Amino acid sequence: MYDELFEPIKIGPVEIKNRVAEAPMNQQGDRFGYPTRQYICSHNSRALGGFGLIVAGAILTDKYAHNEYPFIPYLYPGCNTVGFWCDFIESIRSQGTDTKVFAQMCIGIGRQGARPGARSPSNSPVDPVELMKNMPDTARAWFPYFPSNFAKHLGKLQMSEFTLDQIKEAEHRFVRSSELAILTGFDGIEIHACHGYLMHTFLSPRSNKRTDEYGGSLENRARLLMNLIKGCKTSFGDAVPITFRISAREFQDGGLSAEDVRQICIWAEENGADGVHLSESSGYDDQKNWQTNKKSDQDCLSILEAQGKKLKQAIKMPVMTPGLHTPEVAAKAIADGATDMISLGRASIADPEWPNKVKEGRVDEINKCTKCMYCMLMGIYSGRQQLRCTANPSYGVEEYDPKMWPKPVKAKVPPTLRRWKPGMRWKDEWDIK
Ligand SMILES: Cc1cc2nc3c(=O)[nH]c(=O)nc-3n(C[C@H](O)[C@H](O)[C@H](O)COP(=O)(O)O)c2cc1C
Repeated sequence: MYDELFEPIKIGPVEIKNRVAEAPMNQQGDRFGYPTRQYICSHNSRALGGFGLIVAGAILTDKYAHNEYPFIPYLYPGCNTVGFWCDFIESIRSQGTDTKVFAQMCIGIGRQGARPGARSPSNSPVDPVELMKNMPDTARAWFPYFPSNFAKHLGKLQMSEFTLDQIKEAEHRFVRSSELAILTGFDGIEIHACHGYLMHTFLSPRSNKRTDEYGGSLENRARLLMNLIKGCKTSFGDAVPITFRISAREFQDGGLSAEDVRQICIWAEENGADGVHLSESSGYDDQKNWQTNKKSDQDCLSILEAQGKKLKQAIKMPVMTPGLHTPEVAAKAIADGATDMISLGRASIADPEWPNKVKEGRVDEINKCTKCMYCMLMGIYSGRQQLRCTANPSYGVEEYDPKMWPKPVKAKVPPTLRRWKPGMRWKDEWDIK
């Protein structure tokens, strides 16, 4: 059934056994910024459920970003999470399902750190720029780095504009951190450049008012992303897939248009990117357009409208699209040439066995995500930092289910590391300033 979803596909050098990925999601047991046993077991359930690819939710690449936002996973040279990430990858591999795992590396929080939901219960998302105008100094410390100093543009708001030296340093640290991710065993890197996080705020003309080489024209605003891609490519050569996640458009006057995003994808491919994962929204008041906040499957087709075939015709690298929870819709999007892969976020929470059930013709047995947003409430808005699901009572407690535990198998060198050869530009400078 729905064979299109089960064709293997290559992202760069890595073959993924099917077209169904778990979308990156934090708050799955990463309460302290590292993968706990619950995080590991809940991802094991996706591997056992047939997902071909797991994209591990945003992992901060920088100790400064980590200080800003200590509850988000982190991994950078000199930090204390390395062993936990090794356990996570080993555990997924021990399931014997050939599920690949990419790390979504995130250079910083940027505007998203200002979303009220990120800090306190019961707030619905508001325009963070409005919010930040009235924010006490202590709260501002959560997002001190930004492409531009908004104080210049918005009166009261104080944020530090990245200096050129700081940008260069952050680029350097991003690549070192990505190297470390590959060393811990991840199969690939997805650069987080969506949802109004720091990388996205460089891309968007609404938040990037710089007048130097990192601001102004689209090309300049995309420079940071291109440098991250080039930096990773310089380090890994063709041994490691480098993808990125970008919002398909901003629903904002003066924001990134769908055409801008396509242009960025073209440049990214020219600079060596191996795939693009789409999403929506920029963390301004278009938050309602974030896929996660959409109520119907029909609304979620908006990414296909904005990009879909238009993007597919502009680039050769694989495209991954979220929000297509229904097997018919997902398979049709692939068959029509509108996307190459799909990613499931909440749908993978409601039913970690989504791929196996679809493959085995048990579509009627799928536990459907009702889009009630209890996951977000428990995960982020309440501060509990552990998603739970009204459709799936087993979600969030997998660590107590022996079937989800890591299996005792002999350690093997991870496939990506087998491709990597000394001299492939891995640096010996693992320092962090
Ligand atoms: C609790 C939660 C955490 C998320 N964390 C991330 C993240 O770390 N990085 C990211 O790019 N998207 C994140 N997302 C967005 C999802 O990857 C996905 O695009 C979105 O939920 C839409 O897919 P869905 O309808 O299948 O949930 C998150 C979504 C949820 C619900």
